[in-house]
Amino acid sequence: MDSIVVTGGRELSGQIHIAGAKNAALTLMPATLLSEEPLTLTNAPRLSDIKTMTLLLQSLGAEVTSMQGGKVLAMSSHGLNGDRADYEIVRKMRASNLVLGPLLARHGQAVVSLPGGCAIGARPMDIHIHALEALGAQIELKEGYLHAVAPSGLKGARVPLRFASVGATENTLMAAALAKGTTIIENAAREPEIVDLATCLRKMGAQIEGDGTSTITIQGVDRLHGATHPVVIDRIELGTYMLAPVIAGGEVECVGGRMDLVTAFAERLAQAGVEVTETPVGLKVRRANGRPHAVDVVTEPFPGFPTDLQAQMMAMLCTAEGTSVLEEKIFENRFMHAPELIRMGADIEVHGGTATVHGVARMKGAPVMATDLRASVSLILAGLAAEGTTQVNRVYHLDRGYEHVEDKLRAVGADIERVPGS
Ligand code: EPZ
Repeated sequence: MDSIVVTGGRELSGQIHIAGAKNAALTLMPATLLSEEPLTLTNAPRLSDIKTMTLLLQSLGAEVTSMQGGKVLAMSSHGLNGDRADYEIVRKMRASNLVLGPLLARHGQAVVSLPGGCAIGARPMDIHIHALEALGAQIELKEGYLHAVAPSGLKGARVPLRFASVGATENTLMAAALAKGTTIIENAAREPEIVDLATCLRKMGAQIEGDGTSTITIQGVDRLHGATHPVVIDRIELGTYMLAPVIAGGEVECVGGRMDLVTAFAERLAQAGVEVTETPVGLKVRRANGRPHAVDVVTEPFPGFPTDLQAQMMAMLCTAEGTSVLEEKIFENRFMHAPELIRMGADIEVHGGTATVHGVARMKGAPVMATDLRASVSLILAGLAAEGTTQVNRVYHLDRGYEHVEDKLRAVGADIERVPGS
């Protein structure tokens, strides 16, 4: 397994280009199952998760052709001949469960493995199940697989979500697009990736209003046609690279960055004494003067502070002036980066869903272990300013969600390289 080696102490300066959003692409790709006509995505990110979703769609009989080095995905499910998402694929990537809604809508049946737990939590699917049952699906759990059928098709309904689940909102949105009648999703997730999916579905002929708010109304249509759609930029990659100059010092311009995608996050950075300015091509971040100040963080559904930036923010707060309290309210076990940061000299106390970080002047490089996608990148960020060298092992986690992280950081001056695994 490859590892990434960072030697701290270099200030950063220059531009980092932000890629298309992993979490938008992973719901836009299954949308191809909703129509016999081709769906083409542009600005797609080049990530291993996209390859996994490609394999899943191909296993269902869809065609997925990657062009321009992976930035364009030309898809067609004209030859759809399967309805089963195998455990082998789903256990590697929970987002595989996003074929459930489209397969039910298109085929009237689906057999999708439960994803099983992952490092950050149990990640059940009850909200998805209740929502699709409200649309008329019958769903039964057998030997670890959800067997879903809609013998008389899906019918529009009122669908209250007990929690604003991103994936459940996406599955319901895609299923409702072809259901008979009107669906109203209440307490819907408001993430930009939901708006991107709704925008793409509208291009395909879906009738959707209210995406981006807590109430989404969908008038089902008989069929959807093909479309071409650009994947929205990745707000989590954006936030990650915005933190790099805050930790290492210097100034970085994130090309493609949009303030409306990271408002809550940027507000916290401003509170920490960081200058974020909008430029004609993106967002420029500079650490105003000396160490950033400590700030408190509570993760919430969008538009609150994103859970996917919690680990990266913690890495920054480890060397901030003062004490910060981070509350993780979305996942039950998302502080696995804390023990690794402590190995690098951070002063962190974790009690349940709350982490208290006492800022230290400087951390020390060490060999550390990546446990999940966002924890991995938080260790690299910490390594940018640590004294000496940090070796982050098991970087396959990283490659799931970050395009060539070492190249992007080296281009702005970081001393970082990828060491091929044994
Ligand atoms: C999406 O996961 C993202 N993944 C996650 O990003 C992100 O952390 C999460 O939304 C929250 O923003 C993709 O979009 C592919 P949820 P999802 O359903 O849809 C519980 C990353 O690093 N829940 O909003 O799975 C669940 O256990 C990944 O890119 C239920 O209890 O998230 C969790 O505690 C990590 N029952 C909370 O809700 C359900 O049926 C939020 O889950 C569904 C969810």
